[in-house]
Amino acid sequence: VTAEKAGFDHFMLKEIHEQPKAYRDTMMGRIGADGKSVTLSKEIGMTTEQIRGISRVHIVACGTAFHAGLVGKTVIESLARIPVETDVASEYRYRSPIITPDTLVIVVSQSGETADTLAALREAKRNGARVLAITNVVGSSVARDADDVITTWAGPEIAVASTKAYSSQLIAFYLLGLYLAQERGTIEQAQVAEIVEAMHRLPDQVESILEQAELYKGVAEAVSKHDNLFFIGRGLDFAVAQEGSLKLKEISYIHSEAYAAGELKHGTLALIEDGIPVIALVTQEDLYEKTLSNIKEVKARGAHVLGIANAGYEDEVAKSVDETFSIPRTLPLLTPALSVVPLQLLSYHASLARGNDVDKPRNLAKSVTVE
Ligand code: AGP
Repeated sequence: VTAEKAGFDHFMLKEIHEQPKAYRDTMMGRIGADGKSVTLSKEIGMTTEQIRGISRVHIVACGTAFHAGLVGKTVIESLARIPVETDVASEYRYRSPIITPDTLVIVVSQSGETADTLAALREAKRNGARVLAITNVVGSSVARDADDVITTWAGPEIAVASTKAYSSQLIAFYLLGLYLAQERGTIEQAQVAEIVEAMHRLPDQVESILEQAELYKGVAEAVSKHDNLFFIGRGLDFAVAQEGSLKLKEISYIHSEAYAAGELKHGTLALIEDGIPVIALVTQEDLYEKTLSNIKEVKARGAHVLGIANAGYEDEVAKSVDETFSIPRTLPLLTPALSVVPLQLLSYHASLARGNDVDKPRNLAKSVTVE
């Protein structure tokens, strides 16, 4: 068993460390030889005409895959300029969504066997939509039923808590957003080149976060003594905050909530009391000042704030928080592929500190095949 874990104590930790490889493998063969374009013509059978005709995108998934879809929404909207809605699969089917033949439905599923996601996929097809799947399992039910498939090459994910599958789904969304944008003519070639170049740097940047993995142990131990905490962020930081919160809940059993930082003052601020940990993601530089002012609001009510900031900004952020962790700087759109890693490590160590079964948390199954 230790051999299967490649010397790591748990599958989850092994899978966290496999992310640089998962990123490289998911990008491989999908970036043009010139390094300046993205090719998904093998995965997506739509003509340029059909891609130009897409009027809306629905992203449908569950749990962590849904959180990847929240990032996917921003990626596709900002690059390809198509309106996107991201929905939880178990809700999507029952709200009679407006699905037209020019709707592209994207289902995201690590296992490709999640019952809710599969049911949503079938509902979308019944309504005449084209369905694109992002999945980690070749030949899975979702892959078989979809019209087009982008495989994430993360390799088998054993731990119930998804890590490398989530981050590889982000890579798939970056590739997809760029591809759709190229086909629709909504992006300049220079911008594609800039993003692709930054994507190529991500694996080494993740590696550098992993080299400092031990940093998160101490803070996780402190966090594990609490029963409640908050994750806050704006924009893409809010999307990642939701994933960080789910990860912590499912394996450490600590209650947490992810909040859009600007929304706290509309109610949740009442829950902030002395000593409560607040994990603040401050990586979106255009929203930076706004998030810092929200951090001041919770600090003033006694919260203990842990900030995750871009390299180069840590000193500035340190003035407003109690502890700062820095991540390498990349383009704002790509930051989720880095900022999630500290949150995965934090959850892992908090679960361990609480003496839980990290790889097999209570009440949960790896693949949920019931509705
Ligand atoms: C992730 O840590 C969870 N275990 C869970 O939310 C999972 O992402 C969800 O059940 C969806 O699974 P899928 O990607 O295999 O469809």
